[in-house]
Amino acid sequence: MKFVTPVSELPAPDEDALRHSQRLVGLIRDEIERQGGRITFARYMELALYAPGLGYYSAGLNKFGAAGDFVTAPEISPLFAGCAARQCRQVLQALGGGDILEFGAGSGVMAVDLLAELEILNSLPRHYFILEISAELRERQRAALMQRVPHLSGRVIWLDELPKQKLRGFVFANEVMDAMPVHRFRLDGEGISELYVVCEGVAFAWRAGPLSDAALAERVSEIRTASPDLKPGYIFEINLGAPAWVRTLAAAIESGMLLLIDYGYPRHELYHPERARGSLLCHYRHHVHDDPFLYPGLQDITAHVDFSALAEAGHGAGLQVAGYTTQANFLLGCGLTEMAAVAPASETRQRIQLAEQIKRLTLPGEMGEVFKALALARGIAHPLLGFTLKDFRSRL
Ligand SMILES: C[S@@+](CC[C@H](N)C(=O)[O-])C[C@H]1O[C@@H](n2cnc3c(N)ncnc32)[C@H](O)[C@@H]1O
Repeated sequence: MKFVTPVSELPAPDEDALRHSQRLVGLIRDEIERQGGRITFARYMELALYAPGLGYYSAGLNKFGAAGDFVTAPEISPLFAGCAARQCRQVLQALGGGDILEFGAGSGVMAVDLLAELEILNSLPRHYFILEISAELRERQRAALMQRVPHLSGRVIWLDELPKQKLRGFVFANEVMDAMPVHRFRLDGEGISELYVVCEGVAFAWRAGPLSDAALAERVSEIRTASPDLKPGYIFEINLGAPAWVRTLAAAIESGMLLLIDYGYPRHELYHPERARGSLLCHYRHHVHDDPFLYPGLQDITAHVDFSALAEAGHGAGLQVAGYTTQANFLLGCGLTEMAAVAPASETRQRIQLAEQIKRLTLPGEMGEVFKALALARGIAHPLLGFTLKDFRSRL
């Protein structure tokens, strides 16, 4: 379980990092001024994470792993990619072959481990497409593939947009949607305010205003229907980009499976009265806190995913909602236990490490329950491996 660290106890950045952050602060302040004094939080988050050369994901900071700010499942253990490889093999076999498309490939470790495992399973894809927003991370992914699986790197193609030809195969994104910009809101009695970002002296601050986009009103009303007991003062976020992105993807998939793994809940659980401060979390040097205005560009900013919205978007765009479960159930359904039993771990130390990795991936207090897997599919008749153990589609 991650506990929120008080901001006063966070380690201070060094002078270079602070100068970098100040340049990004300057860019955001300029934009706020140009926009008449305020920007939506979604625009703030977009700049803080993706402003070219300065945003958290666009600049060359070390984000992943022990020396960075957070650790994702593929970074914890190759068993994660090993399980995904088994799910992928099932899909590619059902289709008689095809391609893989990975969104937001981070350090490239998942692409490396997935390709290596699929080679062992004799199920390599024709192409391994990567769609990555960050130019700096693309280079890192290229280097990782060249270093670890040079003989397979010829299959990997980086795309700037979805391929023109429709996809047949396995499409997936791990921890990408939580890094997409969200709008933020506060319930005020019968009404609702959007929370904008303004400049207050040298700092950024929140300022309430009317909704910035008509599409938000529709989403707010769905939330109020799903969670009628929310009280005035309740704060929450809406990710408009993720369902739109699922719809775009649905149109690009001829046949195959879209696997989305991220932390989040069905709508009525995400917008629960007890989550009264929203789900916005920042990751900075393995500390979790809730101040997105701290050190812009030096920390990750995330919000939990509304899996009901993704399932509805997929269904509305003609995909079958083929499974929804926890990360633990998904991995166990794909054969995590069997894989671990045959993993090369000759020394006691290796076996302890393996056990530790499995715990982090599957225990409820770690990533096992808060992370969910959603499968959207077209033209696949079989029950999907990762969802055979337990399927919670009825909760969506
Ligand atoms: C938290 S990291 C996860 C990385 C990797 N999937 C993993 O599990 O280790 C988020 C990744 O998504 C990328 N990303 C965010 N929004 C994206 C988008 N709209 N399209 C493609 N990549 C995106 C980021 O640049 C980064 O590589």
